[in-house]
Amino acid sequence: MNDNLHTLRCFGCGARISGPEARSDFRCAQCGDLFEVEYAGWGHRQGPDRPNPGALKWLWRERRCSGEALDQSGVWRFRELLPILDNFGNAVSLHEGNTPLYELKQTARALGMDRLFAKHQGMNPTGSFKDTGMTAALSVARERGFKWVACASTGNTSAAMAAYAARAGLRSLVLIPEGKIAWGKLSQAMDYGAVTCQLETDFDGCVRVLSEIVNQAPIYLLNSVNPYRLEGQKTPAFEIAEALDWTVPDHLIVPGGNLANSSALGKGFRELRELGLVARVPKISVVQAEGANPLARSFLQNNGETMEPVSAQTRATAIRIGNPASWRKAAKAIRDTGGWCMDVSEAEIAIAKAEIGAEGLGCEPASAVTLAGLKKLCGDGKVAPTESVVLILTGHTLKDADYTIDFHRGTLLTEQESHGSEAAMNGLKRDAVVVEATPEAVLATLKGISG
Ligand code: F0G
Repeated sequence: MNDNLHTLRCFGCGARISGPEARSDFRCAQCGDLFEVEYAGWGHRQGPDRPNPGALKWLWRERRCSGEALDQSGVWRFRELLPILDNFGNAVSLHEGNTPLYELKQTARALGMDRLFAKHQGMNPTGSFKDTGMTAALSVARERGFKWVACASTGNTSAAMAAYAARAGLRSLVLIPEGKIAWGKLSQAMDYGAVTCQLETDFDGCVRVLSEIVNQAPIYLLNSVNPYRLEGQKTPAFEIAEALDWTVPDHLIVPGGNLANSSALGKGFRELRELGLVARVPKISVVQAEGANPLARSFLQNNGETMEPVSAQTRATAIRIGNPASWRKAAKAIRDTGGWCMDVSEAEIAIAKAEIGAEGLGCEPASAVTLAGLKKLCGDGKVAPTESVVLILTGHTLKDADYTIDFHRGTLLTEQESHGSEAAMNGLKRDAVVVEATPEAVLATLKGISG
């Protein structure tokens, strides 16, 4: 059975090619831009390849009760909207997706909002949103007969790739910036058996080295320039719409690093609307760290029309990226939906992360930029109290436990970074105390805590 319906369309010049024709660096041979997966049959309202909205909603819900491995994946459950494989039997799955949409009641109350949600993509098998993209793109690699896959990474992509490659019986090569990724992520790549090279450079340097390697050796590139990654990463949009009974939130807030995820979610909502499953799309806003903010700067200067790379610095290491590959795609998603792009400081990230932790959810620092950004949007009157907002939490709190411990011990930020935010941070710090091993000493400690 051939399930495959896709072509690749260049985001820059519009050139169309078939999937196997793509170059190994996934750049357009005509203009050098990136590709997007396109399903031609969906354009014709009565065409035979155009999915039927009512039937799809029913089918996707039924699959939640199915025992089939493919149906138990929150990505492949929606396979009618990602027909990228010749045979869905080639899919490599770890039961990714189907992540929770939590209400953030405390935070909503503090911000005077009615409805605030967190889509927790850290609840995926390897602890980040990368699993949804990896199941899609790695399945293509397997179907096309590759023996080796590779990525440059700030940590989460490499963890996901290593796990899915191991499941598929493929070998994987990871390039990471030496000393600049969280230990939890490095340990995953090692545990899942990747060949892990720490390069004496930053993420952007790792990307440069890898794009030359894939031109010289038959290794399949699994960075987010690979358009199949985004087909998997669009599926949380389907889950959000389904969870809200096929309505969409007013606003989606996404962290920005290499800038692929925001456009993937935008594509997901766009396709739902085009196929008649939802009536409209949410605004999509992207938040970057102040020290790694090339797109936020670009929006300030010229509404995201051109972008100057920066030398990136932030403790949110997942988004420590100065030259994001997919910035044009992200800029278009923001402009088309009427969202915003902004940056937030190290102190704002740390406070927001502790607040999400205090809701009993937790997330890694890069995910917390979403709440920090939302606070700014509310402060500027760009988000009204009656609007419904979904924050995309991209990674699990255990990915970077050092960051959390340093925050609660008060050693995370420099004086300069915390200047003006000391009171807010002190109110959130919960250092572990060393107490004599007696009931009296523990009870005395409890007495000392107010509230
Ligand atoms: N949040 C987390 C936890 C991430 O790991 C990343 C990216 C992002 C947000 C940004 O997403 O790149 O699509 O804008 N991490 C990549 C990696 C770069 O290698 O793991 P983006």
